[in-house]
Amino acid sequence: MAGTPLAVFQLELDRLHGDAAVALADISDAAAIEAARIEFAGARSGRLKAAQKLLGELDPADKPVGGRLFNETKAAVARLLEAAQAKLGSHHAEIEPVDVTLPGESVALGHVHPITRTIREVQEIMGRLGFESVDGPEVEDQWHNFEALAIAAEHPARDPLDNFYLSVAQAADPLLLRSQTSTVQIRVMENREPPLRIVSLGRVYRPDTADATHYPMFHQVEGLLVEPGTTMAHLKSVLRLFASSFLGGNVHVRFRPSFFPFTEPSVEVDMEWGGRWVEMGGAGMIDPAVLEAVGYDPDVVTGFAFGLGVERIAARRYGVDDIRDFYRNDVRFLRQF
Ligand code: DAH
Repeated sequence: MAGTPLAVFQLELDRLHGDAAVALADISDAAAIEAARIEFAGARSGRLKAAQKLLGELDPADKPVGGRLFNETKAAVARLLEAAQAKLGSHHAEIEPVDVTLPGESVALGHVHPITRTIREVQEIMGRLGFESVDGPEVEDQWHNFEALAIAAEHPARDPLDNFYLSVAQAADPLLLRSQTSTVQIRVMENREPPLRIVSLGRVYRPDTADATHYPMFHQVEGLLVEPGTTMAHLKSVLRLFASSFLGGNVHVRFRPSFFPFTEPSVEVDMEWGGRWVEMGGAGMIDPAVLEAVGYDPDVVTGFAFGLGVERIAARRYGVDDIRDFYRNDVRFLRQF
């Protein structure tokens, strides 16, 4: 019967309980709790495990009592660990209170889309040159998208294959998604008197197949200046100032003869930057027919207008060579701006 006497077993349990209570009495961090847990309740070599072995060595007659004592001790140790854990939680709150007056840490929740960023920047630069930013509707009528801009009924630009008409073909005045922001020139001139300096940036729509340089929806910058004595030289200066501010450095602007129904003379605008000429849009002196359409006297009033592609100037600025990248919504692309 050489087994462990019950009294010895009980003494060991008491000691274990006492040691655990001492070890967990003044816990200051999670690591200390974990160390105590391993020492007392560790599954392999914890002291409870060792005591359980002793339990097996008790006299069979003592085992029921020994088992009850063991379970009580085990439960007591578990309670001590739990209490220490709870205390650590509240303790932490005590020593590290949250100072709600501290400035927050900034978290990047998103990015301004490069096209939106470009639009804002163009508005800002043109604003410094005295051009007020105005908006116009994206759904337009024939008058503002075509007629007032001297685009006659039989003009190919009005072809249903080149426009997103919204109402049935029989309608006398079918609405359409505007194909150009020049519509805004008309809307402004109809409602205001010169002098005028406005810029309007927004979406335009054309049923083009998407490729590296085309997209069925894109953005234009429309500029309009109506002031006595305006000449092509003013137009070129404004475009050059804009291009230098936007692209930085010494940007050259080149005009090539062109044709638009609503300007006379009309030019194609190219910009040179870093050794490359890029076509940016069209411009010209406002055609007298347009001035008449909005009720101005072309003998008194002159002005210029221009229309540039926002995607083009953004692509030039950021080195993007496929316009579709702007609309894929690939965050890896968008994060770069
Ligand atoms: N609206 C023309 C287009 O979409 C661009 C344009 C050309 C605008 C000449 C103008 C202008 O204001 O004067 O192709």
